[in-house]
Amino acid sequence: MIGFPLFPDVASTIATGVDRLYFFLTGVTLFFTALIFVLILYFAVKYRRRPGRVAEQVGSDQQHQGFGLEIAWTVVPFFITLVMFTWGSSLYIANSRVPDQALDIYVVGRQWMWKVQHTNGRREINELHVPIGQPVKLTLASQDVIHSFFIPAFRVKQDVVPGRYVSMWFQPTRAGEYHLFCAEYCGAYHSGMIGRVVVMRPEDFQKWLGGVTEESPVQAGEKLFNDFNCVNCHATGARQRCPQLGSLFGTDVMLEGGGTAKFDEAYIRESIVDPNAKIVKGYPPVMPTYRGQVSEEQLLNLIAYIRSLTPQKER
Ligand code: CUA
Repeated sequence: MIGFPLFPDVASTIATGVDRLYFFLTGVTLFFTALIFVLILYFAVKYRRRPGRVAEQVGSDQQHQGFGLEIAWTVVPFFITLVMFTWGSSLYIANSRVPDQALDIYVVGRQWMWKVQHTNGRREINELHVPIGQPVKLTLASQDVIHSFFIPAFRVKQDVVPGRYVSMWFQPTRAGEYHLFCAEYCGAYHSGMIGRVVVMRPEDFQKWLGGVTEESPVQAGEKLFNDFNCVNCHATGARQRCPQLGSLFGTDVMLEGGGTAKFDEAYIRESIVDPNAKIVKGYPPVMPTYRGQVSEEQLLNLIAYIRSLTPQKER
């Protein structure tokens, strides 16, 4: 339709699956709405008041005449909703599992912009460049209030909540430019928190990415690691007052008081802002909190650095 598309582009691997479910739900809703409307009209006409016809009293003897009907209108919707449940949850689960080879991109939302950082250091604001045909994993954080990262053409939307990391992934299937929205009311200029997603051919994407002189998140993180004096305790070979970070990423660490925790982005983040939340077994709770001293972007850089300490193959 010219100038007024009824549906967004279909530009990611899950878009078609989401659309099918959506059309199914809409179809079921329309069918029953129409059915009820038609029946109301039909009964209204059929049982209308006519001269010489008195209203019948519904007595107790008439209560169970439609027993079969009652069973039907209970069982049929039950199975229909069961189909909706299994269909919806399988789609949800598929959409929650990030493929291993996904390209990592970090996103920080704040009033009122999206800041994007690629692993080689390339930064952009309110724009997101991604290659076609490759899974992309976004790790998102918010610096202030709840935002929501929404790309209609990919059929993905994720609330970005302050104080924690969330992630989402998609695999673009078509080159082009698509809308990027904030889909959670976040203040006066919420409606201006928009941007565009540019899907490029892989070689164009590499060209776009390359030639950057800005420092990469790993380099920035290493600098912060020194500036915040993390290195005093956590350096390899330092006195063993704190866990060595060398090969921990992606592993399960034993915790003081039992249990384990997965050493991932969320765990590192929590350990920096709230060190006593999950103490690694065998170490005293001596680390001070860095809450309020480290911005979300600095946190992402620190995490990128700590993550880089673990060799790729061990993750
Ligand atoms: Cu950010 Cu709405």
